[in-house]
Amino acid sequence: MAVAISKIGDVAVLLLDTPPVNAVAPAVAEDLMRCVQAALADPAVRAIVLGGAGKGFSAGADIADFDRAEAGGASMRALMVALDAAAKPVVAVLHGFALGGGLEIAMAAHWRVAAPGTQIGLPEINLGLLPGAGGTQRLPRLVGVAKALDMMMSGAAIGAEAAVVAGLVDEITQGDPIAAAVAFAAGATVRRARDRVVAADGAAIESARAAAAKRRLRMPALLALIDCVEAASTLDFDAAIAAEADRFDTLLASAASGGLRHAFMAERAVARLPGIPKGDAMVFETVAVIGAGTMGSGIAIALLDAGMHVVLIDLRPEPLAAAAGKIRRTLESQAERGRISADLAQSRVARLSVASDLAAAAPADLVIEAVFEDLAVKRAVFAELGRIVRPDAVLASNTSTLDVDAIARAAPGPERVVGLHFFSPANIMRLLEVIRGARTAPVVLGQVMALARRMGKVGVVSGVCDGFIGNRMFEEYLRQAYLLLEEGALPAQVDDAMEQWGFALGPLRVMDLAGQDIGWSIRKRRAVEQPERPYSRLPDLICEQGRFGQKAGAGWYLYPDGRKPLHDAGIDALVVAHSAMLGLARRAVGDAEIVERCLLALINEGARLLEDGIAARPLDVDQVWVHGYGMAPERGGPMFQADRMGLAHVLERLVSLSAGREGWAFRPAPLIRKLVDEGRDFASLNR
Ligand code: 3HC
Repeated sequence: MAVAISKIGDVAVLLLDTPPVNAVAPAVAEDLMRCVQAALADPAVRAIVLGGAGKGFSAGADIADFDRAEAGGASMRALMVALDAAAKPVVAVLHGFALGGGLEIAMAAHWRVAAPGTQIGLPEINLGLLPGAGGTQRLPRLVGVAKALDMMMSGAAIGAEAAVVAGLVDEITQGDPIAAAVAFAAGATVRRARDRVVAADGAAIESARAAAAKRRLRMPALLALIDCVEAASTLDFDAAIAAEADRFDTLLASAASGGLRHAFMAERAVARLPGIPKGDAMVFETVAVIGAGTMGSGIAIALLDAGMHVVLIDLRPEPLAAAAGKIRRTLESQAERGRISADLAQSRVARLSVASDLAAAAPADLVIEAVFEDLAVKRAVFAELGRIVRPDAVLASNTSTLDVDAIARAAPGPERVVGLHFFSPANIMRLLEVIRGARTAPVVLGQVMALARRMGKVGVVSGVCDGFIGNRMFEEYLRQAYLLLEEGALPAQVDDAMEQWGFALGPLRVMDLAGQDIGWSIRKRRAVEQPERPYSRLPDLICEQGRFGQKAGAGWYLYPDGRKPLHDAGIDALVVAHSAMLGLARRAVGDAEIVERCLLALINEGARLLEDGIAARPLDVDQVWVHGYGMAPERGGPMFQADRMGLAHVLERLVSLSAGREGWAFRPAPLIRKLVDEGRDFASLNR
């Protein structure tokens, strides 16, 4: 039974009880409906209180269920009809969170009381959906069209106190919420949201449509949502509910919603890697960060934000003082912008100390090294740390390319060494690649993954290889971008095509942002290490002109104001001249070809990472791309995209492209062939 039933006096108390978040699968909605009907039929019951057991009221419809055949909101909608027909007062008591279908159930109740701080919202838009159980009709009736649009289009929850002001919640409970709700029910009458009239608000609808038009991949869901809200004041309730149900079902089947749901579930699944025990992030209270450069400073801010004490260490006093100043200013500006209170900002500043001697790392539970990217330098730091830190302290390297095992061998306890590859800016980017060395202890990995979560990051475990998951794939993606330029595309076309498809920034704009010099030095190293995998010389030509990207004011684009890329006809000419130098007749390259080749390069290398055991599951690869490289969550990730394209089609295209120019880069990964032969997809490896 998904509902816990009790009776307090003449009030039936029905608590949703499907841990951990009281998600409402169809069977749960049916159970609840039966309980409501039984209570309504029981002459000894005068009123009903609806609540949730555990840490919250309800997180809404069961997302895992949406992929099954019997999804959709039919049972949830039937529950709403039963609540609407109730002739006895129904009081919803909210605590923790009341989200999505959970809030929709509460809105179908006659009254809502909430414990202080309860998070209340309709986040369906973040799954590419609209509220499909009456939310688009009842919320405008309770809070008005403008506020309802604001809540549903952002998907953001509001606190119980703000919900009272908005008219969504009737009372904040004091003491035990259930007891408070039962007391409230004693004086409650029957009052239905559906009976209210919604005042039309054309201005709010119009500005919502204008905002939706700017949201590319999210636009269809937003426009459908706005249509439904508009219908709240133009159609009668039942007709509007039917229209909402239709729109919900259409969106449920959309590619964008599929990608967003995959991204939601994958974000939670990455933390549960088989063989890694659940760790406790609280074992890390004091963290030493070595190296006061951009990375070290960003990591320090992220740790302070998460409540830890940080010792920032750098042997050079000047950069150290500059970094400390910058960190303090960043924390204070968070308060100035109203994101945190002044007291909280001050407590974060107070938890930072600086030192110019490695010995200051002695009390640390965790040391994160972010010094110059050079193996000998890093090994020397780890060897010295081994003499300084406690024998149980965890040692982490922030290397983005070096062999974590070679670094670990320099330390006395390689089982306590791990890679923590933060992405820049480290206090903003959510991805944290957690690099598992050959000897890293599972318990250490578990602790570090818990730390990632405590820091609000998405930790993805990667094995040791050059570039780890993300940069190894990025290299193949870039390779195709450059080859496409040689064959006929121009920089803005490549970038625009990828942005239009769903990247925050196209590949060449990313390189301008990151700094062209880094890629240049990697290419020089690769040319020696892997002569059989040649590169386009184009980015080198850019670098030879000192056009290192945004920081130099010029790269593939010009940056007269420091940030906004401006087209440079000189670069187009350079690209065209380079094709001529190679003896290539330039041809028209379509956007579809750009997207296909860049995506297939990602998929093929992702498959190789899985084969090599560097990435544990396709979903880990997907999360790297969504949280570290700006792939829209609507796209789910490269491996999710491969399944959508169909692996047989992917294989066929790889085979065909591998017969073309620089075709070696598309030689199909054996794993793809194997999956096709077995009639399986990447998703089957996630289970
Ligand atoms: N359905 C199924 N599982 C859910 C879920 C949901 N709606 N919400 C959360 N979960 C699961 C998570 O997958 C996770 O599972 P795991 O332990 O196996 O990894 C577990 O519950 C805990 O979730 P979190 O790790 O996210 O826990 P937090 O405490 O950090 O957050 C939360 C809790 C605020 C409820 C957060 O999970 C959340 O925002 N959930 C999504 C809410 C949502 O989008 N609801 C709308 C659903 S669609 C809908 O209702 C349609 C309707 O209109 C018809």
